[in-house]
Amino acid sequence: MSHIKLLNIVGARPQIIKASAIGRAIRKYYPEEITEIIVHTGQHYDKEMSDVFFDELEIHKPDYNLGVGSAKHGRQTSMMITGIEDVLLKEKPDCVVLYGDTNSSLAGALAASKLHFPVIHIEAGLRSFNKQMPEELNRIMSDHSSTLLFAPTNAAFKNLMSEGFKPENSPPYTIDNPKIYLTGDIMLDNALFFAELAEKKKASLLEQMHIERDKFILATIHRDTNTDDITRLETIMNTFRSLSEMNNMTFVLPLHPRTTVSLKTNLNKLYKDILNCKYIRIVPPVSYLEMIMLEKNCRMIITDSGGVQKESHFFRKPCIVLRKETEWVELVKNGTAVLVDADPEKITNEFERFLNNLSSLDYPGFYGDGKTAEFILEEIKLMFEKV
Ligand code: UD1
Ligand code: UDP
Repeated sequence: MSHIKLLNIVGARPQIIKASAIGRAIRKYYPEEITEIIVHTGQHYDKEMSDVFFDELEIHKPDYNLGVGSAKHGRQTSMMITGIEDVLLKEKPDCVVLYGDTNSSLAGALAASKLHFPVIHIEAGLRSFNKQMPEELNRIMSDHSSTLLFAPTNAAFKNLMSEGFKPENSPPYTIDNPKIYLTGDIMLDNALFFAELAEKKKASLLEQMHIERDKFILATIHRDTNTDDITRLETIMNTFRSLSEMNNMTFVLPLHPRTTVSLKTNLNKLYKDILNCKYIRIVPPVSYLEMIMLEKNCRMIITDSGGVQKESHFFRKPCIVLRKETEWVELVKNGTAVLVDADPEKITNEFERFLNNLSSLDYPGFYGDGKTAEFILEEIKLMFEKV
């Protein structure tokens, strides 16, 4: 096949960022051979959760925006499937590319595999082994609907093998004879590519925010377990408040809208108190280049985000993970990330340990060479050459 029509499904903030790595590699290596279509489900829709990334990361505007918006899981996913199915029937792409583990990934996986379009899953094989987590179901179902699966870590690759995927499968690859690859992580491609740009374009960010290098903590919270369980959210915010005051250390929190909604609705007094705290800086979600600047310059990261955990490693910062388990197990084994659930004692102990022991931490390269998108595209090309 000389020309490939590749249809990307994105919807949530991290997927737009991930798709930028594939788009950049297509423009650089295969501008004539691969045509890219972007379908945005509309899962994220606020300017700072969506448009800002298209503008800043120079991704072409979505060819389709399904405008699905927020809803309960079943309704949201079913509206996405309906919309994606219509686009697939119209566009008849050669393959459908999914990123990560959101409801948009799941909808893409189901719509495409049922219509027999080959599905390519980037960030395959990650497992938390906690099926209460909506993302875990999305991961398993997306992987088992896929033809090419790109696992970003050894652990992810092993997880796929233990679910019956066979590395020795030979072409032609199909949903019944899928191919699994161990690659790096396309988010490292992005971090390397955009870090320099962030330094240039966002040079005055710290000054504008009145914060100083190494003298602030960067924290993000958005997992449903932390935002929807009010006691946990209250505990986390109170722990941040006391740590910031005890250590005279500013906490910068670019808050996901989900967290802001929960705070305003359920903990309005605490929210107002925190807005007045000298050392807590709640800001709206920031752009990716701004986030890189905050990650590069902070003292430590506290998060429940998957992407931010990895970025802590790329930018060599210790990371406290507000979860019981993680898919990025290599970070925990390495000792540079620690799981603390939402236990105030554990958060406090690990915070103090990291604050006083920065020099003993090491950040080996777990996530490839920064050329993962290029590798993935080569393999996609090969699949079609072998047809
Ligand atoms: C979703 C993904 C999660 C991913 C995260 C990245 C699922 C099941 N979850 O979680 O895996 O880590 O995106 O950020 O797919 N909202 C807004 N404006 C927006 C988007 C969301 O106000 O632009 C608010 C709404 O109140 C909405 C809530 O956030 O109900 C949750 O949004 P949703 O997309 O359902 O899940 P996320 O928590 O963003
Ligand atoms: N991010 C961002 N602005 C923010 C918070 C996060 O650009 O205010 C980026 C972050 O750098 C990472 C990605 O969004 O690349 C992670 O997304 P998120 O935490 O929403 O989801 P997850 O990775 O947990 O699915």
